[in-house]
Amino acid sequence: MKTIQIGSTNLTSSAVALGVMRIADKTSEEAQKIVETALASGINFFDTADIYGSGQSSIVFGQALKDAGVKRDEIFIQSKAGIILPNGQINGDGERGPRFDFSYDHLIASVDIELERLQTDYLDTFLLHRPDTLVDINELARAFTDLKTAGKVHHFGVSNMNPYQIALIQNALGEEKLQIDQLQFGIMHTNMIDSELHVNMNDAASVDHDGGILSYTRLHNLTIQAWSPFQFGFFEGVFIDNEKFPELNQTLKKLASKYDVSKSAIAVAWILHHPANMQVIIGSMTPSRIIDMTKLDFQLTNQEWYDVYMAAGNTLP
Ligand SMILES: NC(=O)c1ccc[n+]([C@@H]2O[C@H](COP(=O)([O-])OP(=O)(O)OC[C@H]3O[C@@H](n4cnc5c(N)ncnc54)[C@H](OP(=O)(O)O)[C@@H]3O)[C@@H](O)[C@H]2O)c1
Repeated sequence: MKTIQIGSTNLTSSAVALGVMRIADKTSEEAQKIVETALASGINFFDTADIYGSGQSSIVFGQALKDAGVKRDEIFIQSKAGIILPNGQINGDGERGPRFDFSYDHLIASVDIELERLQTDYLDTFLLHRPDTLVDINELARAFTDLKTAGKVHHFGVSNMNPYQIALIQNALGEEKLQIDQLQFGIMHTNMIDSELHVNMNDAASVDHDGGILSYTRLHNLTIQAWSPFQFGFFEGVFIDNEKFPELNQTLKKLASKYDVSKSAIAVAWILHHPANMQVIIGSMTPSRIIDMTKLDFQLTNQEWYDVYMAAGNTLP
């Protein structure tokens, strides 16, 4: 398994991480098997959030770690907070959503409840899940300082944020550097690539949806964590073996056959091939797929990378 440094931290992580958003309804035996398979495949980084399964995902995952006898210092655990769902609170404060909430009380309470659910006393990394336009950045900085001082969070990052949002928060944090931006990215979700390739054109691909986040993260050494790498649209489905994408699947099949791996492995390798040093957060809860997706002992050529990009329906200027 290829490894990456997370941002400018000393965390050496597997380039593929497992997201446990979909683990909530698994039995304890299934969850244990998922965790064991991930570990055996070289994955040492796990991503959850306080809202996944309304909290149940972190509970099931935390128990699976215990059942599998995983030593805490051999893995990295990341959680996220800041979203309050429409139909209920997730951290015991009794308030209902929908809203985003980066208030001191909400963030502290969310971390505390996540630690309890995960049966651990620290998070390696903690992310702000989605931008809260009402954020009081000084209050946010105070929450981060207190979480760090208490030893509950080792490193911080964000998710779904653009460069100015990151810079605004970073400015308030001072020495404490944001290390991660978790963003939707994969073969069928390439806004950040499209706009970089079509700069100053009149076509739709030139529209900058994210403020140049790809170059920004490279410049400031933040790790992009690619979420939902196999989805198209906003959770519309999986593009692998999907008849809506015949050309893409044909190209993936050709490469899979050349490198003797699955199409899924090609899709993961395609993300890792980019020099931005991204991390891929896969979300499969099927052990055999997790094994397939992490067979990455091959190297795409730059031409193959572009071939896949074009087969996904993209154009070059
Ligand atoms: N920051 C954010 O806003 C945000 C948003 C969404 C997700 N995330 C994170 O990203 C992680 C991954 O997201 P995701 O689960 O949407 O990612 P994903 O890996 O793109 O999708 C996983 C889903 O696709 C299915 N799948 C994968 N390969 C397949 C194939 N070849 N054929 C059929 N089905 C296939 C899986 O089914 P099986 O389980 O049956 O294999 C599973 O339901 C989450 O767990 C979470 O940690 C973050």
